[in-house]
Amino acid sequence: MSTDVILVDDEPDLLESARQSLELAGISVTCYSSAEKALAAFSPVHSTIFISDVRMPGMSGTELLDRALAIDPAVPVILITGHGDIPMAIQAIRDGAYDFIEKPFAPEQLLGSVRRALERRRLVVDNRALRDELSSRSALERSLVGKNPAIEKLRQRLTSFAATDADVLILGETGTGKEVVARNLHLLSPRAGGNFVAINCGALPETIIESELFGHEAGAFTGAVKARQGKFEFAHGGTLFLDEIESMPLEMQARLLRVLEERKIIRLGANKEIPIDVRVVAATKEELRGPVDRGVFREDLYYRLSVLNLVIPPLRNRKDDIPLLFENFLQNSAVRLKREVPRPNPAELALLIAHAWPGNVRELENVAMRFALGLGIEIAGLSEDNRAFNLDQATLHEQLAALEEMILRQSLARCQGSMKACYEQLGVSRKTLYDKLKKYGISADDLD
Ligand SMILES: Nc1ncnc2c1ncn2[C@@H]1O[C@H](COP(=O)(O)OP(=O)(O)OP(=O)(O)O)[C@@H](O)[C@H]1O
Ligand SMILES: [Mg+2]
Repeated sequence: MSTDVILVDDEPDLLESARQSLELAGISVTCYSSAEKALAAFSPVHSTIFISDVRMPGMSGTELLDRALAIDPAVPVILITGHGDIPMAIQAIRDGAYDFIEKPFAPEQLLGSVRRALERRRLVVDNRALRDELSSRSALERSLVGKNPAIEKLRQRLTSFAATDADVLILGETGTGKEVVARNLHLLSPRAGGNFVAINCGALPETIIESELFGHEAGAFTGAVKARQGKFEFAHGGTLFLDEIESMPLEMQARLLRVLEERKIIRLGANKEIPIDVRVVAATKEELRGPVDRGVFREDLYYRLSVLNLVIPPLRNRKDDIPLLFENFLQNSAVRLKREVPRPNPAELALLIAHAWPGNVRELENVAMRFALGLGIEIAGLSEDNRAFNLDQATLHEQLAALEEMILRQSLARCQGSMKACYEQLGVSRKTLYDKLKKYGISADDLD
């Protein structure tokens, strides 16, 4: 049922006048003369609300309230009470009614209450749809959340690469999910039974990387008291994840290249070769072409690593996924905290969409965790920003602009980048759409 309001009253006159004033305001109404019939037409998937008179022959409005809440505890029910029936109305609010309106009432009074109830209802239904969607997904879709076409494509490529044994290079800015991608490559591969061993090439001093990767024999260097297995050996039969490969020292790059080609290692201080069966997955924050041109990355290693590439777009280029990702992190928080957590209202969502997310998904995850604790939307750096976009301080114009940007991005994603479908759906001219995309810096490239 696609009606906004289910209106129940046994008095035809009242039904008619309430219906007219709501419909004039663009709200669709379906009228019923009895509570029984109204309830039969309702189910929890509907983004509809109830307005009901209290005193009716047969089932009363308060009984309808109970039954409706039993079907869906989050459905707003507005009761219309007789003059002076305040104690009963207060009891109804305690029992879960959304609002009550005393007869006789002005049309605006009803309208204001209905608008607020509808907004709340839509949020609930939208969030449920998001939640259902999240819970019905595969392990890969649950850990690499996103409906944006670029992310869908990434998951497809990841799945097909996982089945091969070739080395893979992952490219993505900080916090975009490179490690998530690497782990999924491992888990979906025939090597899933082996170890996934991560090593951060940027965090280790040059002198340690070598023994970290290849291990050493006792006495190989000062301090090497006992022989030690390196990460390559530890990853034997599994996957070795070389994070921040762009910051690996040049000398190590040469040794790595040799290992990649020969699939054998020699521990420091040893001369015996050990055959190694690993798949190497490397990650970089920066296109390796740059470091190659600067002479800090070996070109031959670059070609060796970049046979199979997975590129993760920054979050600002897939803003339509922000609500879904945020909801996903809120749900994770709710599970961790073992309680319900707040949900963002449309203005707060607009705030999330407006931000550029230099820290990408990790930054969004942190903001979601604080939001789940009841701290509201706290985005670092926003206050220093001249265009500070804070709920309390943003002007109406700024809030509307953020909302407009969100709508454009969502609509483009829905239309899968088809401009024509998009401007038709939004009811604007082609030129208006292009102008607006330009205004918000949205390019069609962001969409695939
Ligand atoms: N698409 C996604 N869906 C759900 N969670 C995600 C997604 N992308 C990233 N995350 C989460 O965001 C956080 C950062 O991801 P990850 O550590 O994989 O990023 P990274 O690219 O390796 O970052 P860095 O470059 O800083 O090492 C993690 O908690 C991860 O679970
Ligand atoms: Mg990482």
